[in-house]
Amino acid sequence: MQLLGTIEELRRWRSGQNNAPVALVPTMGALHEGHLELMRGARAAVGAEGKVIVSIFVNPTQFGPKEDFSKYPRDLKGDLEKCQSVNVDAAFAPQADEVYARDASLKVLETSLSQGLCGASRPGHFDGVCLVVLKLFNLVQPDMAIFGQKDYQQMAIIKRMVRDLNVPIRIIGHETIREWDGLAMSSRNLYLNPDERRQAPTIRKALLEARYLWQKGERHAEKLKHEFRRILTADAPLHRIDYIECVDRDTLAPLHEVEQNGLLATAVFFGNTRLIDNLELK
Ligand code: PAJ
Repeated sequence: MQLLGTIEELRRWRSGQNNAPVALVPTMGALHEGHLELMRGARAAVGAEGKVIVSIFVNPTQFGPKEDFSKYPRDLKGDLEKCQSVNVDAAFAPQADEVYARDASLKVLETSLSQGLCGASRPGHFDGVCLVVLKLFNLVQPDMAIFGQKDYQQMAIIKRMVRDLNVPIRIIGHETIREWDGLAMSSRNLYLNPDERRQAPTIRKALLEARYLWQKGERHAEKLKHEFRRILTADAPLHRIDYIECVDRDTLAPLHEVEQNGLLATAVFFGNTRLIDNLELK
């Protein structure tokens, strides 16, 4: 596996790939099994002759001033070993000043899908995500890129960006990878104390119970959301809900009655740790 630290090294690597299909897996490092599954998915998509490249970059522009940028977990050595273990061909791990000019003055703003859900409580977050992902697309010029459905809103916004800006890259969504007890894998799970960690899987349980109501015929979003809150209150006293929403899977617009194409999406705090998850209503 090649470690590429600069844009020049990356460009040289890219121009050496001739016609082999290239898949990009963008990450912020602190890699876990969820990330590794994306890399295996990338390999399956490009085939043995294709190339898989992972970017590892804690992107400063997507963190708010009060968020965890400086204490976001970093472990480049461990990350590179993990990438190697799943046959990644190259890892692009640049420094921030390699990616951003000091006087950079361009933005990429998505003005619809990014307004609700996580966008409402993290202003500017998806602007930073769009900016860095578009830059990574321009730098790596992959044929396809893989994103996890755990960050459903992020994936939907990237698909919209690629559509609206005519970016010639196929976006592949990958299902959420979970711990044995149902908790969605996340680098932020490391922040949970033992009590919080014990209660956090209730998020998944509450989503499943709300979906079960829908499967039995309940169509009112309020009823589904109420069921979600009820289960969390009963089983996870340490929780604090940031949001629970019922939205259309494509537009992310809130739904009052959920017939089809619905998604339950949530963000829940345990202590200072904000966890997200979602479930398709089907
Ligand atoms: P990060 O949180 O490191 O996630 C990188 C990719 O892994 C994202 O596509 C995310 O959805 C996916 N992922 C994380 N946990 C997952 C899980 N449990 N199951 C499936 N996929 C999972 O998301 C980012 O980084 C950044 O915003 C980034 C896109 C790299 C831009 O900086």
